Amino acid sequence: MDCVRIEQPGRAACVVTARSEAETERFGQALARVVGPGMTLGLVGPLGAGKTRLTRALVEALEVDPDDVGSPTFVLIREYAGVYPIYHFDTYRLKSPDEFAALGTSDYFRDDALCIVEWADRVRDQLPDATIWLEIEPLDLESRRFTLSASPEFVTRLCADLSRRDN
Ligand SMILES: Nc1ncnc2c1ncn2[C@@H]1O[C@H](COP(=O)(O)OP(=O)(O)OP(=O)(O)O)[C@@H](O)[C@H]1O
Ligand SMILES: [Mg+2]
Repeated sequence: MDCVRIEQPGRAACVVTARSEAETERFGQALARVVGPGMTLGLVGPLGAGKTRLTRALVEALEVDPDDVGSPTFVLIREYAGVYPIYHFDTYRLKSPDEFAALGTSDYFRDDALCIVEWADRVRDQLPDATIWLEIEPLDLESRRFTLSASPEFVTRLCADLSRRDN
C-alpha cells in the first residue's frame, strides 16, 4: 500500500488508501507493529467508516480474540488482554467531553497500556498531547482513505513497514 508522507510543524502525516476490507486489515496489522504501550490512537470518521473494523484488525495482531471486539456502542470502555493491555473507548453516546473525564478515563492513559478511542474528535481536549490521530474517510463502499498524524519518527516507521510488506 502506498504511504504518502506530508511534513507538518513538529509532526508528520501520511495518507494510505485501502481499496478493500482486506487492505484495511493489512493496514491494521502494520499499525500493530508500530504502536506500543503508552500510546493513544484517536480514530476519527463518520458512522460505518471502519473505526471498529480497523481496531479489530489491530488488536487481533496483538493476540486479542477478535470476537471480543464489538462495537462498544453501549459499553464505553472495553479492556483486552493482548500482548499488553489495550483499552478501546467509544465516545459516541457521551453527552459531553466532561462526562468522559468524569468516568476517570485519564487513569487509562498509562505507560503500560495502548488506548484506542473511536470518535476521538469529540474528546479531543481530554486526550494526551502525543495522541496519534487517524482519520478514516470512506471513498466508496469498499475504499477508505486513512490520514494519520503523529510524530515524524512514528510516521517513518509506519511508512517503512508498509513499503517493506509491498515488496
Ligand atoms: N476497506 C474497508 N475498511 C473497513 N471497513 C470496510 C471496508 N470496506 C467495507 N467495510 C465495511 O464497513 C463497515 C465498517 O463498520 P465499523 O463498525 O467498523 O464502522 P465504525 O467507523 O466503527 O462505525 P461506528 O461509528 O458506528 O462505530 C463494516 O461493515 C465493514 O465490513
Ligand atoms: Mg465503531
